[in-house]
Amino acid sequence: MSILLACDFDAAEWALWRPALQAAMPGERFVTSADAPDGIDVAIVANPPAGALAGLPRLRLIQSLWAGVERLLADASVPGDVPIARMVDPAMSAAMAETALWATLALHRGFFRYARLQQEARWAPHRQRRADEVTVAVLGLGQMGGAVAQRVADQGYRVLGWSTRPAALAGVETSAGEAALAPLLARADIALNLLPLTARTKGFFDARRLAGMKHGAGLVNLGRGAHVVEADLLAALDRGQLGHAVLDVFASEPLPPEHPFWRHPRVSVLPHVAAQTDPRTAAAVAAANVQALREGRPLAHRVDRVRGY
Ligand code: NAP
Ligand code: GLV
Repeated sequence: MSILLACDFDAAEWALWRPALQAAMPGERFVTSADAPDGIDVAIVANPPAGALAGLPRLRLIQSLWAGVERLLADASVPGDVPIARMVDPAMSAAMAETALWATLALHRGFFRYARLQQEARWAPHRQRRADEVTVAVLGLGQMGGAVAQRVADQGYRVLGWSTRPAALAGVETSAGEAALAPLLARADIALNLLPLTARTKGFFDARRLAGMKHGAGLVNLGRGAHVVEADLLAALDRGQLGHAVLDVFASEPLPPEHPFWRHPRVSVLPHVAAQTDPRTAAAVAAANVQALREGRPLAHRVDRVRGY
């Protein structure tokens, strides 16, 4: 099969991805530009340039190397009748669970506050709480949120999980649907966002929802920047409604140097690294779908275009 690689990788990333993909799919032919568009069967994509997937008459699979596919779905030039599969890799879920656990521990134990106090050479210990006295809400219980909820619950926190369809997770109090959301946010000391970006979740953390959170709560956004109305978050932090925000994703990435998040004392910025796709494991995930296509078996991790994830 001919596989188009439409990825915005730099040279260092290509140096990792090319051999990993080639090793996972030794019999396949890879191209990086569709010089012969009639021959392309599969596109493996990571932030493809707009139009890169148009005019490929034989295309039968778009395999994303990203878990979140909102950009692909928003690109009108991506053919609507070709299945899109997203990246689902346990190694990525494990990395996400590590990031979420780090943020949860740091918020719970006040480590971000102590880092601020260090800047002022202030010695000001606070009383510490046990993990089981801290309530953590996990929004989205899919591949990422499920792993996060489990990891944080294993650490002894009280975990409340939320999704659209009822879910069951050991050690996690789960609820589903809009009506369950406000009571859950009102109880949470820490909210971890692992929702996909869809029409229903854009601007999710706006002034109204932030005002409904527990006073002084921590917000950890590991989903997408557009889940948060940035001006509303800044206002909520400035009036103390929220205690601290840990942000891995932003409306505009890279985060512009002049953005107030960089220097806000109650914001911790990460450069979209909560869970990176790792070619060492993800190439095999893509290869399994290419093999399924070759053998006429159902594709794994197909995106539901109506739901948007
Ligand atoms: P997933 O497996 O598709 O799970 C999505 C979860 O969100 C499901 O539990 C789903 O509930 C829930 N959900 C969706 N819309 C909802 C709504 N309107 N209200 C309540 N719950 C809703 O996705 P995933 O693999 O866990 O990834 C989630 C997101 O994480 C990705 O879309 C991406 O944006 C982000 N991500 C970020 C990074 C990073 O490095 N920062 C890395 C990877 C992924 P139902 O299934 O019940 O509908
Ligand atoms: C990263 O943000 C991803 O969606 O894979």
